[in-house]
Amino acid sequence: MGKIRLDKYISNETLYSRSEIRKMIFKGQCSVNGITVCQPDFKVEENDSICLDGQAVHFQKYVYIAMNKPKGVLSASEDKSCKTVVDLLPEKYSKRNIFPAGRLDKDSTGLVLLTDDGEFAHRITSPKHHIEKSYIVTLDADVTEEVIDGFKKGVTLYDGSECKPAVCQKLDDNKARVILTQGKYHQIKRMFGVYNIGVNDLHRERMGNYTLPDSLSEGDFVEITPENLIDS
Ligand code: URA
Repeated sequence: MGKIRLDKYISNETLYSRSEIRKMIFKGQCSVNGITVCQPDFKVEENDSICLDGQAVHFQKYVYIAMNKPKGVLSASEDKSCKTVVDLLPEKYSKRNIFPAGRLDKDSTGLVLLTDDGEFAHRITSPKHHIEKSYIVTLDADVTEEVIDGFKKGVTLYDGSECKPAVCQKLDDNKARVILTQGKYHQIKRMFGVYNIGVNDLHRERMGNYTLPDSLSEGDFVEITPENLIDS
């Protein structure tokens, strides 16, 4: 991050306004590496240990969040009429420019990764990286061998576009696990559509090496470290 002003550093990491922070600094309520600092423009850097009003203020360059998206919520940053995954985050994230890395349909549930790290988002969504995404789908008809074979070979959608080979594992008569390495618009629904099968429910359980924990209810989220999410 290089050197930045003390008041800006604290403002980035807390919900206090710049003027509240300046007042607290002037009052002697802030220390840098154990020494009280009363100048808001004092320059600090990533490894400095900063305390405000007795509380440590930790520097976090980027955040990475795994959310279990509920039905009816858009995987977008903002929308005029519909609640988004970013709207579900608490206020402490409001100063960060957080967005979902990849899309999940409004009526789908499950794993959405949110971050303010553009480079990471690009890596996990770029078709070049072939990140696996695994879904549990409930269908309005039985899973047939024709579907399983067709997915394995690569489905040609009604618009003529060809999908990469995908895994379709039958879990129950009308329930399957589908694993994709790409992300076309409504891809799974359109792939089953070729076989005249409708998708009643679609839940994303995994992206790369990260599986949504069972303990995370719809609308809940957890901060994660992204290191092992994708094999480099
Ligand atoms: N495929 C779909 O059709 N919908 C999703 O939300 C994800 C994959």
